[in-house]
Amino acid sequence: MTRAIVLASGKGGTGKTSVTAGVGCALAKLGYRCLMIDADTGMQSLDMALGVCADAAFNFADVVRGDIPLTDAAVPVETCPAAFVLAAPMDMACVQEHTLRILVHNVREMDLYDYILIDAPAGIGKGFQMATYAADSALIVATADPICLRSAEKCGQELASLGIKQMRLIVNRVRMDLIRRGFPNLDDAIDSVGITLIGYVPEDKAVMYCGASGTSVLTRPRRRASRAFLNIAKRITGQNVPLMKHGRS
Ligand SMILES: Nc1ncnc2c1ncn2[C@@H]1O[C@H](COP(=O)(O)OP(=O)(O)OP(=O)(O)O)[C@@H](O)[C@H]1O
Ligand SMILES: [Mg+2]
Repeated sequence: MTRAIVLASGKGGTGKTSVTAGVGCALAKLGYRCLMIDADTGMQSLDMALGVCADAAFNFADVVRGDIPLTDAAVPVETCPAAFVLAAPMDMACVQEHTLRILVHNVREMDLYDYILIDAPAGIGKGFQMATYAADSALIVATADPICLRSAEKCGQELASLGIKQMRLIVNRVRMDLIRRGFPNLDDAIDSVGITLIGYVPEDKAVMYCGASGTSVLTRPRRRASRAFLNIAKRITGQNVPLMKHGRS
């Protein structure tokens, strides 16, 4: 059964798109068929982050309308052949509350993918709701600062109110130099959110460089962020990969 997971945050710029790209390609590397859907209508970025802009001529609204088959609209990531990207439309007017839910239902019937990752827009507005209605679980992406963690907590409450029962926290952009000096106290910070942690992703400039050049960071397996994404992907699939202490992934 295809699992649909929404990546949300509440606050903007926490790394949802980067984490979707990283975890999606990591799942593909582990041998799972993974579709990453950009739900950030009007502000899409997943296509750029994974270097598929030129090939992503169609979007999820075209597929739901029945204009284009999914197999034509979903674009394979060159460096991760089992990972596919489905772009977002430019115009909010062509999406409704249940557009993505319909899409995910249809994709499940086709049994083309093991995982669907949905990259939600920032905030808890219409696009977030559309992305959430399509998912059966959530990953909340936050950085370790208290303001961001508070918005992650709020995001978790919104997800629960929209019917999501299973959610996990990813703490992104962890800076070991600060953690070693006790800022922030990660355990306390995570406890304050009240959502079980599934992994840390370190601050790693390869995430930025790879995103800017449209290359999957998984092409650089020695980077700490790549290892973190692989560990999170393994935990998603049920492998027992213990969490390291103090922000190590
Ligand atoms: N672990 C990381 N290490 C270094 N840079 C990162 C990391 N994660 C994300 N970034 C950088 O942070 C910026 C924002 O990331 P991203 O676009 O993934 O966030 P977002 O949550 O999707 O933003 P939005 O809310 O606007 O959709 C990007 O420049 C990205 O390269
Ligand atoms: Mg984004």
